[in-house]
Amino acid sequence: MSDRVTITPLKDGPDQITGPVTVLDEDGNILKETESAFLCRCGHSANKPFCDGAHKREGWTSN
Ligand code: FES
Repeated sequence: MSDRVTITPLKDGPDQITGPVTVLDEDGNILKETESAFLCRCGHSANKPFCDGAHKREGWTSN
């Protein structure tokens, strides 16, 4: 396992974050401590900041 965090924007989907990552809410509360997370970048998720798959339903594209 690397201690380097990698952020990969997936085609027509979320940003995939790999590495030891802590996701906080706007008040600094821990939402998730994980080795992999998918963060919404389409704006349609009902579970922000995480992707909930809504990008597919909405037909969102990254181009
Ligand atoms: S990127 Fe998946 S719901 Fe927004």
